[in-house]
Amino acid sequence: MIQENITTPVLENKGYILVIDDEDNIRFMFANYLENSGYQVDMAKDGSEAKALIDQNIYDIALLDICLPDCNGLDLLKELKEIHPTLEVVVCTGHTEDYDFIGTVKAGAADWISKPTNLQELHAKIERIRREQNQVRELSKKNHELERIKKETEHVLTGMKDMLKRQDRFIIKKRTTKRSDFPKIIGNSKKIEEVLQLVRLVSKTNSSVLITGESGTGKELIANPIHTMSNRSKYPFVPVNCGALTETLLESELFGHERGAFTGASTQRRGLIEEAEGGTLFLDEIGETSPQFQVKLLRVLQEGEFKRVGSSKSLHADIRVVAATNVTLEESVHKGEFREDLYYRLNQFRITLPPLRDRIEDLLMLSQYFLEEACIEFSKQLVGFSSEVLEKFLRYSWPGNIRELENMVTQAVILANPPLIELNDVPSLIQKLHQSPRKTRLSDIPFAEAKNEFERRYFQTILDRTNGNISAASRLSKIDRKQFREKARKLGIQSVSYTQ
Ligand SMILES: Nc1ncnc2c1ncn2[C@@H]1O[C@H](COP(=O)(O)OP(=O)(O)OP(=O)(O)O)[C@@H](O)[C@H]1O
Ligand SMILES: [Mg+2]
Repeated sequence: MIQENITTPVLENKGYILVIDDEDNIRFMFANYLENSGYQVDMAKDGSEAKALIDQNIYDIALLDICLPDCNGLDLLKELKEIHPTLEVVVCTGHTEDYDFIGTVKAGAADWISKPTNLQELHAKIERIRREQNQVRELSKKNHELERIKKETEHVLTGMKDMLKRQDRFIIKKRTTKRSDFPKIIGNSKKIEEVLQLVRLVSKTNSSVLITGESGTGKELIANPIHTMSNRSKYPFVPVNCGALTETLLESELFGHERGAFTGASTQRRGLIEEAEGGTLFLDEIGETSPQFQVKLLRVLQEGEFKRVGSSKSLHADIRVVAATNVTLEESVHKGEFREDLYYRLNQFRITLPPLRDRIEDLLMLSQYFLEEACIEFSKQLVGFSSEVLEKFLRYSWPGNIRELENMVTQAVILANPPLIELNDVPSLIQKLHQSPRKTRLSDIPFAEAKNEFERRYFQTILDRTNGNISAASRLSKIDRKQFREKARKLGIQSVSYTQ
């Protein structure tokens, strides 16, 4: 059958119905009644007319008189269903006593109605069938949309393939996979694997480690396994947030103090360096410390010695230092804000955590992980995200990295109703996405997607330049105004009012 020849009914129609009956008065009565009820109706007086019409048009429902002059009604029913499997057939029969209902159902009829016919009953049956057809259509539209997104993201989401395979219709059911040696670190991108390999290697040594990376990339999270996988693991891991304490407080916290060393020091106190003896001291936000403090820290690192505040006695320290910062220490050294000698001492081994946008293939697994964690915390029964949300997650650049994702998912879990997190549950996402989309290189993606992406960027840029004014955008782009509006809508561009 040639697709172009098919005429589809106008959308406003309640449905397109073919009435097949050899008796003129019945055919016309059904047709009249159904047309008056808002349906579009065609008529056929026998099997061959019916088949010719079915070849040309896509009907939603056929009303089929089972006794036709030129064919057996059951055979015709089977043939019609073969031509159009989505066509629903209501069989009309005058012989209800000895009628083969089972055969009719087996042949694929949706329902039957007796003759003479109660038209209200017929109408109710047709309305029910139409409702079911619409539901099926909605479901398959959603499935279709999901398929589209699957295809779009496959090239970056190598790790996601397994997850999608186990996807049940609209829900990502796959739980997050966890490594045995890093159970809290989620993701299987090449970039995170490289980082974890560095952690495995350096944990076996005694060298200082400097962990760098943008805010929220997981620096603190990675510091702990450097200790737990080392041979210092039976001794303490002591974290200190250097950015949260004033210089004097930080010194007394770290080095301890003697009784009377300063106002309020009523007793002698051991510092965190002593607490960490034999183990690991994690100095978070090291870039925030003062040069005076840095000198003292350098002494601990170089000579393994320190003094409690208010004491002249040197104490010995056996600790390993892991430091983290989101400041570019090289720049701080250049500006004279960070001691170069301390920088080299800390930077013996460097681990740089990649931003989330550079390992976007981990995003789905992380999202699902945070969803599951939040569901436990807030006793919610959510199972996943709608395809719209995931698509936007993948297009956003996540400047706040994994922390930002975690916060967004946690808030969404609080707002959402089961089963899925929908776009409404992440109210800030659309604006964030508009302000800070992830930049994909066009050459990284297949041609069809690259073309789409180009169009999206082109339309977005023009609309940004014209403050969302479609007439101005149409003049600039030399695209007809109506076409421009339609295309922008298709591309899902938000910065425009489609009522313009
Ligand atoms: N790979 C990961 N798997 C699971 N959770 C992660 C991962 N990376 C980071 N997180 C979570 O993201 C949040 C931010 O991580 P973390 O505090 O380690 O970031 P950070 O780099 O130290 O940030 P900042 O520079 O702002 O201090 C934490 O709740 C952490 O548990
Ligand atoms: Mg941190």
